[in-house]
Amino acid sequence: AALDYRNTFGVAARAPLLVEVADVTALPEVLSAPELADGIALVLGGGSNLLFAGDPAGPVLALTGERIETLTDDGAHAIVRADAGVPWHGFVMQTLAQGLAGLENLALIPGTVGAAPIQNIGAYGVEVREFIHAVEAFEPATGQLHRLDAAACAFSYRDSVFKHAPDRYIVTAVEFALPRMPALKLDYAGLGDELIAMGIDAPTPQLVAAAVIAIRRRKLPDPAVLGNAGSFFKNPIVPAAQAEALQAQYPAMPVFRGNDTGTRKLSAAWFIDACGWKGQRDGDAGVAASHALVLVNHGHATGRQLLDFARRIADSVQLRFGVAIEPEPRLIGATW
Ligand code: EPU
Repeated sequence: AALDYRNTFGVAARAPLLVEVADVTALPEVLSAPELADGIALVLGGGSNLLFAGDPAGPVLALTGERIETLTDDGAHAIVRADAGVPWHGFVMQTLAQGLAGLENLALIPGTVGAAPIQNIGAYGVEVREFIHAVEAFEPATGQLHRLDAAACAFSYRDSVFKHAPDRYIVTAVEFALPRMPALKLDYAGLGDELIAMGIDAPTPQLVAAAVIAIRRRKLPDPAVLGNAGSFFKNPIVPAAQAEALQAQYPAMPVFRGNDTGTRKLSAAWFIDACGWKGQRDGDAGVAASHALVLVNHGHATGRQLLDFARRIADSVQLRFGVAIEPEPRLIGATW
């Protein structure tokens, strides 16, 4: 099966078999088919957070279920459950239209609900873990369907238990706990300014989503027009002392709080920009002109060419700033 249209980089890739499953209760039976005896090589969602540097080594599974249901609603909070195959942005807009708050800063992120907990998607000062009540996941090795609460998911910046052991679980659905009373987070650089520029002085969750959408449309290339997987690198987390030494040398360098007091999060985009990569290309592999963190496919780059280009970027950042940056998307058919 060709996977060219199933990854937002738009690179060519093939799988020996592509299995689509709408009803997860059929998973045990499907996975016991002789064609799948050696297991699944990859569970594919929207294909927006992976790079096919090679072909997957075995069958690929896609969950196509798109049910959304409200499990409980006490007037203050609702628990909403969505199947893994639900497109993320549509889900965000639907919860907002229902009068539920929380996901507004995460509007327009590509991909599916099932992929959201895997890398703990985040934007504009919000991470999805803040609203995850539980994740339902099938474990092929035991044939069991688990329900992991937020603590069991071990979320951290762009990370979770699912990302650590990608072959252990198949995320089948996610339950979100969403408040009706909004607690807007507008402090992330640019978001408050965007609302002011839009003439909004009494923001609602839906208006915040509109502002986020406007910023993302301006800064991040649309994968339907220019192949990409959003941020290609994670923002590096370094010891506080290293951040301070760098900042003394480069006063304009942004420094964000780390997960604990001993660390700081630095800006991969700033390093890449400072090394002159923004808008550069080699053949069809390049860096977006609008955002240094976004690796782009100008047409017919192969996954291998994109990966080689990314390595040159990381090497130059390492050489100039002594900071290691690592890819955010999952690499298929290669290791970093
Ligand atoms: N910057 C540059 N050059 C650029 C772009 C940015 O120097 O070309 C510097 C600026 O100083 C800017 C800073 O980088 O203030 C931060 O930029 P931005 O606000 O765009 O955020 P980011 O750290 O680059 C992260 C997420 C994005 C998310 C934005 C907004 C990661 C890896 N990326 O990017 O997530 O949308 O914040 O919250 O954490 C994604 O994960 O795919 C993604 C797009």
